[in-house]
Amino acid sequence: MPEIDQNQLPRHIAIIMDGNGRWAKQHAMGRIRGHKKGAQAVRTTVTACRELGISCLTLFAFSSENWGRPGEEVSALMNLLADYLDKEAPTMQKQEIRLTTIGDIDRLYAPVREKLLEVQKLTRQNNKMVLNLALSYGSRDEILAAVKKMLADSREGKLSPDSVDQDVFERYLYTSGMPDPDLLIRTSGEYRISNFLLWQMAYTELYFTDVLWPDFKKDDLLKAIAAYQSRERRFGLTSDQVSGRK
Ligand code: FPP
Repeated sequence: MPEIDQNQLPRHIAIIMDGNGRWAKQHAMGRIRGHKKGAQAVRTTVTACRELGISCLTLFAFSSENWGRPGEEVSALMNLLADYLDKEAPTMQKQEIRLTTIGDIDRLYAPVREKLLEVQKLTRQNNKMVLNLALSYGSRDEILAAVKKMLADSREGKLSPDSVDQDVFERYLYTSGMPDPDLLIRTSGEYRISNFLLWQMAYTELYFTDVLWPDFKKDDLLKAIAAYQSRERRFGLTSDQVSGRK
């Protein structure tokens, strides 16, 4: 297993969980079986992050574009989510994990939306880790919604245009109050951001692996964290500056 420096863990890990369909094809199964196996990988990864001491884990579970998939697949994903929430709520409580969401939650199927609200309420005092599910989420939509809300607030005299800076803007995003991701993992050998956390990932370290999401294990997570820890994050400064030499 790769060596991990406990003092330099990413505070926030975001994951684009890709490759469920290809995994199913490789195993001569239907796509939905791939998503089911993907839900297992979600369980393993949440537990691994919690054990490692990661503060925040954001999972891209359903994009705003995923609504365009065949109706049967959309329904199966909604059911899987509801089932996941049902089964995992007691574990989240036991592991002191708080559930949050980003995205257009009102668009989700009613039973999923209700379960989400229920589990969010149940876990709201937990403070060992945040599990943040991106659902019906698209980053361009998020940014547009923020701009529209700011314009509305400005019209109502609640926001002065002169006061708008990065901190103010961030308060209008779904991720308000969350740290930006330090590490993005995308599985399945695709090298894209796919409309995920575009504003928030300005300085995120990107890690791509060929492993398909249903095969993603704790060891793969450790490899991603080890790669992250080998990078020098400069945030636009010089190497000498960040290493304190000037
Ligand atoms: C991408 O694989 C994955 C999704 C669109 C859905 C992700 C859902 C899960 C991992 C399971 C349910 C989630 C939770 C939180 C319980 P793909 O279908 O695009 O794969 P492909 O590119 O190989 O076809």
